[in-house]
Amino acid sequence: MDVFEAIKGRRSVRAFNKKPVSSEEITNLIDAASWAPSAGNIQPWEFIIVRDTKMKRELSTAALDQTFIVEAPVVIVVCANQMRSGRGYGSRGVNLYCLQDTGAATQNMLLAAHAMGLAACWIGAFQEEEARKVLNIPSGIRPVAIVPVGHPAEKPMERTRRPLNKIIHHETFESSE
Ligand SMILES: Cc1cc2nc3c(=O)[nH]c(=O)nc-3n(C[C@H](O)[C@H](O)[C@H](O)COP(=O)(O)O)c2cc1C
Repeated sequence: MDVFEAIKGRRSVRAFNKKPVSSEEITNLIDAASWAPSAGNIQPWEFIIVRDTKMKRELSTAALDQTFIVEAPVVIVVCANQMRSGRGYGSRGVNLYCLQDTGAATQNMLLAAHAMGLAACWIGAFQEEEARKVLNIPSGIRPVAIVPVGHPAEKPMERTRRPLNKIIHHETFESSE
């Protein structure tokens, strides 16, 4: 699949059927994620793979009852290792770079899932402390995204994007259009 086709064809999917996702497919997704750029190539990402139904249920509660998380055969939780980024870049590493890096990794994962015929959704609305407890995440590691992965049981919503002339600025911020 061409990269532009993947970028434009990917959609968030929030309903999954029961078809399983293999460990090899999950490894391929995480491999794609790990090829994202990162500040200083520090690669501050960590990935927690969750297949256990009880844990998925607890994650869905932490994610403000987004129950479709439980339907997905696999959930990947993307975490930022703030300590690793901090060692390289101090507070900018802790508060910015590791979040940008893991965001890029998450997007790679979503694009790879789409190219592999899988469905996924980036979930950012969750209670961090609750997610930490469920997954036993220590301090210094920040859960950034919960990504349910499976096969689609819905046709994803059509989405639009803001027109380019509303988001492009020439020379300075003030001048748009
Ligand atoms: C940082 C971030 C947080 C998001 N959180 C949620 C979420 O908690 N629940 C959800 O269903 N979708 C979530 N999404 C998915 C967006 O709603 C979705 O990407 C957006 O509506 C555009 O649709 P598309 O992904 O199909 O292009 C999130 C996306 C991002 C990037």
